[in-house]
This record gives sequence, structure tokens and C-alpha cells, in this order.
Amino acid sequence: MQLSLSTWQEVESYLGRSTGIIIPIGSTEQHGPNGLIGTDAICPTRIAAGIEEQTDVLIAPTINYGMAQHHMAFPGTVTLKPSTLISLVSDVITSLQQHGFTRFYFINGHGGNIPPVTTAFCEIYHATGKNNDHAPRCRLANWWRNDAIAELAAELYGEAEGHHATVSEVALSYFAHPEAVKDVAMSPEIAPNGEIYDAADYRRKFPDGRIGSNPALATIADGERFYRLSVEALTADYENFISGAYDEMAG
Ligand code: NI
Repeated sequence: MQLSLSTWQEVESYLGRSTGIIIPIGSTEQHGPNGLIGTDAICPTRIAAGIEEQTDVLIAPTINYGMAQHHMAFPGTVTLKPSTLISLVSDVITSLQQHGFTRFYFINGHGGNIPPVTTAFCEIYHATGKNNDHAPRCRLANWWRNDAIAELAAELYGEAEGHHATVSEVALSYFAHPEAVKDVAMSPEIAPNGEIYDAADYRRKFPDGRIGSNPALATIADGERFYRLSVEALTADYENFISGAYDEMAG
């Protein structure tokens, strides 16, 4: 069930069954010579749609912008300031909280979002204080960090999976948008690896935008495998999250 395609009456009725909601979050940023600018938003959006087919869940509109300052030396990238993203995520949660939602499951497609989004969760918990009635619960699922996904990427691509414009994310975005597949030769085949500071430093060290990857290996068929694995893993994780399994005391 998509929030943007529902009526308020349908949302009210959903709240009688569940107080959980999935919020995909991505970024609008360069992804190398053959990766789509929307990759980080496209992947979690597609995975969320797959989870919706498996279980009764409400999916909020994707947050398409993220914290992408380090990609700003490449045209097309848009970034939010970290403080803006913290405020945006906090405002989305507190709005939904006022309607009775208590469990907020973010499916994230971009590593740069992790510090601001988890900081927003801290803001929410801070505002809740010690009042535990209907205390909110927030969870950030970074789809590419799932063990099954990382194992499949290692098995298929080894070192060429890389760290930015990875083969797995480009493949998953191609599965979601086969009409946008690009055929581009990579030079060198596998991009260099290394640390980055700011946007200028990034472009100087990684001139085509990739870090450590060879996304020319990405195929729609592989993308479907990553998609299916992600949907399976994150559906189970979401169900554990809303059932309260993660609220139990450690045994
Ligand atoms: Ni990405």
C-alpha cells in the first residue's frame, strides 16, 4: 500500500492493523560513467515495492535527496546540508507520529545518509524523553550492507564490486529501469580505491566518479538477483521489527 496512492480513510483503517511504515531514502548524485544519478533512490524504492507485495505494509514516498556533498564536483548531484537532512527526517517522523505511527523503517540506498539519519533518530528519542507510552522505534536498513547481498556481490564480482557506483547497485537500478541501461567502456577497468575529504578531493582522485568498482559488469539479470535477495531479507527484518522481536531483552 503506497501512502501517496491512498486516501486518508485508508490510512486510518491501516493504523487499526499496524503502526509500522516503510520510508525509502536515497540520494541524487553521480554514479560514474554508466550509473544513474538516481541509483541510490531507485534501489530502495524498488525494494520497498517488492516488500509491499509480500506483506501488509504502508510505503511512504521516497526521500530522493540525501547528504551528497562529496559528489558535488560532478554535474547533476544535489545535496542537502547534514542539518537539513536531520530536520527533514525528524519532521517526517514527527508528522507520522501524530497520526499514530510508532515504527519507522527506513530503507536506505546511500552511505552518506547514515550519520544524519541516525542523528535524526537520536533527536526523536531525545524529544520522547522518558515517556514510554507509544515510544517511537526507528530502524535504518542499508540494503547493500545485508550479509546475503555482500556475499552475492563478492561471489559475482570479487574486488570489482567496489565502494561507489558499485556493480550491485548499478545492476539493481538497471533491473528497476531497463529503459535506462547504459553501455559505456570503463578506463581503467576497475577504478582506484582510497580515502576522500571533500568534493574537489573526490574528483581529483576519482575522475570518473567510481571508487574501486567495474560497473560495466552490471546486468539486469544480476540486478534481479540482488532485488529478490533484498526483498526476502528486508521483509523478514521489517516483520521482526514491527512484531517487537527486537524489543525483547537479550537472552
Ligand atoms: Ni550509490
